[in-house]
Amino acid sequence: MAESFEVSMAGEEKYYIPDPSYKEQAWTKDYGRAYKEFLADKEGFWERQAHHLEWFKKWDKVLEWNYPYAKWFVNAKLNITYNCLDRHVANHRRNKVALIWRGEEGEERIFTYKKLYHEVCRFANGLKKLGVVKGDRVCIYMPLVPEQVIAMLACARIGAVHSVVFGGFGVNALNMRINDAEAKIVITADVTIRRGKTIPLKTIVEEAIINAPSVEKVVVLSREVDQPVELHKEMEIDYYELMEGVPAECKPEVMDAEDPLFILYTSGSTGTPKGIVHTCGGYMVGTYYTTLNVFDLKDTDVYWCTADTGWITGHSYVVYGPFCVGATVVLAEAVPDYPDAGSYWKIIQDLGITIFYTAPTAIRMFMRVGDEWPDKYDLSSLRILGSVGEPLNPEAFEWYYRAIGKDRCPVVDTWWQTETGMQMITTMVGEPMRPGFAGKAIPGVVADVVDKQGTPVAPGNGGFLVIREPWPAMLRTVYKNDERYRTYWHTIPDCYTAGDLAVKGKDGNIMIIGRADDIIIMAGHNIGTAEVESALVSHQAVAEAAVIGKPDPLKGNLIKAFVILRVGFQPSEKLKSDLIYHVRMTIGPIAMPSEIEFMDKLPKTRSGKIMRRVLKAKEMGIDPGDVSTLEE
Ligand code: WT7
Repeated sequence: MAESFEVSMAGEEKYYIPDPSYKEQAWTKDYGRAYKEFLADKEGFWERQAHHLEWFKKWDKVLEWNYPYAKWFVNAKLNITYNCLDRHVANHRRNKVALIWRGEEGEERIFTYKKLYHEVCRFANGLKKLGVVKGDRVCIYMPLVPEQVIAMLACARIGAVHSVVFGGFGVNALNMRINDAEAKIVITADVTIRRGKTIPLKTIVEEAIINAPSVEKVVVLSREVDQPVELHKEMEIDYYELMEGVPAECKPEVMDAEDPLFILYTSGSTGTPKGIVHTCGGYMVGTYYTTLNVFDLKDTDVYWCTADTGWITGHSYVVYGPFCVGATVVLAEAVPDYPDAGSYWKIIQDLGITIFYTAPTAIRMFMRVGDEWPDKYDLSSLRILGSVGEPLNPEAFEWYYRAIGKDRCPVVDTWWQTETGMQMITTMVGEPMRPGFAGKAIPGVVADVVDKQGTPVAPGNGGFLVIREPWPAMLRTVYKNDERYRTYWHTIPDCYTAGDLAVKGKDGNIMIIGRADDIIIMAGHNIGTAEVESALVSHQAVAEAAVIGKPDPLKGNLIKAFVILRVGFQPSEKLKSDLIYHVRMTIGPIAMPSEIEFMDKLPKTRSGKIMRRVLKAKEMGIDPGDVSTLEE
């Protein structure tokens, strides 16, 4: 990691001030005051949020902090699905729409809270029939359909720990995740649908479980778009058959606040992904509070987050947070450019979306195709816009604000991570927005930008983004690898190191620059260079590989791979495409390099570590910096 750095920010400081009505109506009306209240009594602040939710037994203590291990809501008992479902079914939200699913062709499926509740209970009972008990791990590898959400909630209902694997991952990535979690059950579907084509999922599962001894059964949702799927009866069970004849009620398992809720894998700087572990109580409070306050969500809102539930954004802000607050959630198996570049705007118009949460990479794609697409649709229902996953550059902010928000809707650019579980930095609704800056730590969070020693940088300077205090939705460990957990808290003294570089503005706003480590954020997806490198070297032609993120105006970064071939293999265009295909099959389409360059030698330190920084500097035509450790 480099030392802190100075930044020159040319241009005037420009702010966008939302209409005062936003502030007047907001749950958090005064950011400054709320933040001060938090600082005055941090645990009291979180305790007040927790009181809004229902617990089978309340806590003895809000926080027990033994650096770097936190226990939140000590000895409290709860079930998150009780707060997502039962609580609403018992009140005025019983017949409120909980979930609207949209398919690519505009098909719709609608679930009220009551209907969702019964579906979750039935599937939970189905899982019980398979012998799933509290603490068992269940892998969910599904398309973006209601059954995926139901499967997640059903696991949580009975205390099973879900590990959702994004449907875009390939055989090896899936196998690795199933094995690491020792999943007993895999839940999948025959196909996923993308741009009018069906893409098989079950066949990938079939291969991925060949060397996965923990798997006892595979539950298969048949979408019956093509032909009915044939099931291997010894191993596979039909999703709806499993639910036949079971009661529509299922008592929620009593969970301790610190019992695990789920594992979600994220890239790290080694070839093996990290199983980030989140627990029940703190995660519930953190996602509930942020959904309510960051989106300023009201009972009448129609909320759409475009993320897949395979990512943390989907876990926290499609499923758990929004259902905890009782929102109407839209789930769309849609891509931004199919059947045309108006697909998202049509959904907003048709469903009257009021809160829209998406990624900068999509915003930049829309910006490129021009205003005529959103201009064809009535977007006047929109009230609040959100962004997540990578820096929202000022041009993209301004376009989003003007062309989509019609110079009216506040934009919440939310910085957070799989590890943080909840949103951490943003500009709260109603506060002045500064393009290029995510904003400030939300009330409840203490963030800072520091140098390597942990000393805060002077305003106007850059350094490492850190979190100074524990927060309820923080990761508790890395599954079966606590050592990697401790690294987060022992890289810079006395704080959690996020791995991002950031700049602290003179006004206290924080600008996120990008990753400081070997992780590439491409189109909002988090990909480890090491993971791609190990996929490449698993190809028979490859001796060595180094992978870098190459800045790209649309996707933020593209993956470029430098490859040394084994003796006997010749560079060719054909081999390039073979290697790209190989990565696609091993990790999945999301990790495909867009460029491959054959090399005779890679820049390395004398101890043999590849210096990706040097490759990147050469690629971008900039100064590589200190190369004193470079071997001859
Ligand atoms: C990394 C975490 C949790 C959201 C989905 C990604 C980058 C996230 C922002 C933002 C600038 C952002 C960071 C972070 N990131 N949000 N608003 N502005 N960068 O979750 O896969 O765990 O990736 O995404 O680099 O460390 P993730």
